[in-house]
Amino acid sequence: MSYNRKVIKIFKDSSELSQYAANSFIEIANQSIEERGRFLVSLAGGNTPMKLYEALGDSYSTKVEWTRVHFFWGDERCVPVDDAGNSYGQTQKVLFDKIDMTNMHRVMSELAPDEASKNYAQTLKEFAEPPLEWPRFDLVLLGMGDDGHTASLFPGSPVNVDVPTLAVTANYQDRPANRVTITQIVFNSARNIFFLVTGAGKAETLLNVLSGEYKPDVYPAQRINPQNGNLIWLIDEAAASKLKK
Ligand code: 6PG
Repeated sequence: MSYNRKVIKIFKDSSELSQYAANSFIEIANQSIEERGRFLVSLAGGNTPMKLYEALGDSYSTKVEWTRVHFFWGDERCVPVDDAGNSYGQTQKVLFDKIDMTNMHRVMSELAPDEASKNYAQTLKEFAEPPLEWPRFDLVLLGMGDDGHTASLFPGSPVNVDVPTLAVTANYQDRPANRVTITQIVFNSARNIFFLVTGAGKAETLLNVLSGEYKPDVYPAQRINPQNGNLIWLIDEAAASKLKK
């Protein structure tokens, strides 16, 4: 199976995008389970993927053997699970409570950031695909902030990292938060990476990320470039409005 597609798909709106993403999620999950007996997926936080998670919990809840799915998080805020800022906690209601979810590998967000980051690197190591010290994810879901960040890799953060996770303090949209993030060396080992980007507010940044100069310190989303993986940008017309037709 070759993994080297770089594709941009544009959808009318976030509902149409989420439906496509849910279909593809299930397809990749079943293919991974068939080929390797399990599906390793890294989820994104934020608002954009929520429609996808809702779709998986509703119309797709019987379409995959969920007990063979291992859920990870690309990043997490170091707040308690029941805090509105906790991505895992937010997704529990719309997805995890609706499926036979048995393999949740969440960031231990109740620990101090450094501790939680070290703990997560150890979790990743338990699923390592040698010679890597982390899993080769079958699917990574990522969003992009209007500042070009992805996961919790923010502008100005170190570009050349050699560690799988980092503890980060960021103040995005005036939501100061300590976070743990997986770094690009892990994301870029994945078989499939989906970026989900919607809304006119991201159009300018998306144009710079996709068509502008390579400036990974300014636009961390540009650090995502899988060595042997498919990179699929799923964007709605509003976010695509500045891209060259
Ligand atoms: C998070 C995400 C973060 C998110 C972007 C876009 O935990 O918040 O990992 O990287 O994907 O901030 O967020 P929206 O989808 O809400 O625009």
